[in-house]
Amino acid sequence: MASLVRYLYKKRTIEQLQNEVLSQLRSGNAVIIKNFPCSTYTVVTDFIYALGNPITAARSAIEGSKIIQKVRKYVKPRLDPYGHEILSTTSGYFPLHTDNYCNQTPADIIGLLCQEPSASGGESLYLGLDEIRSKLPYTLFESLCQPLYQHPSGLRPIITGTKNSQKIFFNERDILLCDKGADIKMEARSIECIKLFSAFLEKETKAHKLEKKDLLLINNTRMLHGRNSFPDSGTRRFLRFRISWKD
Ligand SMILES: [Fe+2]
Repeated sequence: MASLVRYLYKKRTIEQLQNEVLSQLRSGNAVIIKNFPCSTYTVVTDFIYALGNPITAARSAIEGSKIIQKVRKYVKPRLDPYGHEILSTTSGYFPLHTDNYCNQTPADIIGLLCQEPSASGGESLYLGLDEIRSKLPYTLFESLCQPLYQHPSGLRPIITGTKNSQKIFFNERDILLCDKGADIKMEARSIECIKLFSAFLEKETKAHKLEKKDLLLINNTRMLHGRNSFPDSGTRRFLRFRISWKD
């Protein structure tokens, strides 16, 4: 069953961590590296390159880097190209999802580095595909494996592949927004499956509050992630990066 595996940064070099972290991520576990230097961008950048190929950030890149993004709440949340609020720039609840759902090939690894946690709330949420497979009613799981769900490329499955190499791609909001503009709409039964699946995720989700200098790494195609809401007035600050596997 997928779990959070913890390492302590100061006891390991990047090279020592690299293989262990990659092996945990490939098996669907999430990794937390405690005491990761959170203000030295060169250390973060070196670590990103050790894990894979960084994906260039389109927005909010920190000064001097195109691969590390700031994640924080804005007074006026940022909008996506279609004019919808980007939930990571709000303080609201962000349900479990895959990052870059609308991309043809979403990122393989997501990294979130806590520079300053919120005083309350803001827990990171996660649930692994193995756990989803073992707990979700079989008929609903099978329905999610059918090409019935909206994506910019057309209808496709939420869960792809065979048992040992399955992947999950899910973002309820993006699926429903895609459906609004699609020529071939989803069937009512597919929308019902999405609602049932979201209710299941909400019930089964696990939460973990990241502390300052915690680096959370998630396999984006084997684990869904999200975030609890937090107070508007706080100073919660995170850095995020996205990576694709080297091979
Ligand atoms: Fe995300």
